[in-house]
Amino acid sequence: AAVLVSGLLLVSSVSACDGRSPSALSPFGQKAGQVAWSWWILFAVALFFCVVVIAMAVFAAIFRRRTDKVRTGEARGFVIAFGVVVPAIVLAATFALSVGSIAADSQPKTAPKLTVEVTGHQWWWEVRYAGTTAVTANEIHIPVGKPVRLQLRSADVIHSFWVPQLMPKMDLLPNRVNRTWISADKAGTYRGQCAEYCGLEHAHMAFSVVAEPEAKFRRWLATQSEGVRAATSATRRQGERVVTTSSCATCHTLRGTSANGKLGPDLTHVGSRERLAGGAIPNDFGHMAGWVANSQTVKPGNKMPPQPLSPRDLKAVVTYLQSLE
Ligand code: CUA
Repeated sequence: AAVLVSGLLLVSSVSACDGRSPSALSPFGQKAGQVAWSWWILFAVALFFCVVVIAMAVFAAIFRRRTDKVRTGEARGFVIAFGVVVPAIVLAATFALSVGSIAADSQPKTAPKLTVEVTGHQWWWEVRYAGTTAVTANEIHIPVGKPVRLQLRSADVIHSFWVPQLMPKMDLLPNRVNRTWISADKAGTYRGQCAEYCGLEHAHMAFSVVAEPEAKFRRWLATQSEGVRAATSATRRQGERVVTTSSCATCHTLRGTSANGKLGPDLTHVGSRERLAGGAIPNDFGHMAGWVANSQTVKPGNKMPPQPLSPRDLKAVVTYLQSLE
């Protein structure tokens, strides 16, 4: 009974339908569909045997015989059949099913035309589009309905790339490139999460996959490939000057300016992103100002030190960065 109850609890938790927690059981991509299908079959098999075992236990409790009357030959045959033969068949069948799912996942139905290079950092995601100058962070845009090739790398420790509604997990390993692919059948924003414990802020290493119509995606990619926008007001110009001449520039890149640091996310189009800091905070003026002033209070242990800027400079920097869409 405990198995049954925990099974039902599991179903209710993984299929939580508040719309915000992504479930692998509401798939929107070929690979995630394969995972969900396998999951339901395994669950049905487990449920069936759970019911059978409970029924037999109840039966035995009600109709128990006195031990001196048990025929040992009969008992041995029963143990061999239900303790060895049946489990071996069930495990072999489910193993074959899993292997079949993995094989079906290995190639998309059509060959991908686009390659996205994702690098895991403690604790954010660097995203590059092969053959373009586009670099972004924690947000991957893909054309809806098209398979996209993924190259996964790590800059430090092992991370794991997981978008429950689109694809199963794949690790990002130091000194190695893992290749896989992703697709989304429906336009929308899908939550992704690092699924391998990678240090203090592992939980704040989220990202989103934005699936959009091809034309919209192409426009987005063209914009992201451009250099930084010219500052159009006195405040923004002041912000640009502070960013490019202060310690910001030693860690961050603004393509087209002298800021070309490599340690932190590329900020060329930071204003276009939905969230900051590996999904930890929304990307708006207030949250960004708090982050720049002292990100350690938001995400302790991250590599960005507090920035001792004057209130005027802080306002200028954030106004400028927010304008970089
Ligand atoms: Cu990266 Cu957990």
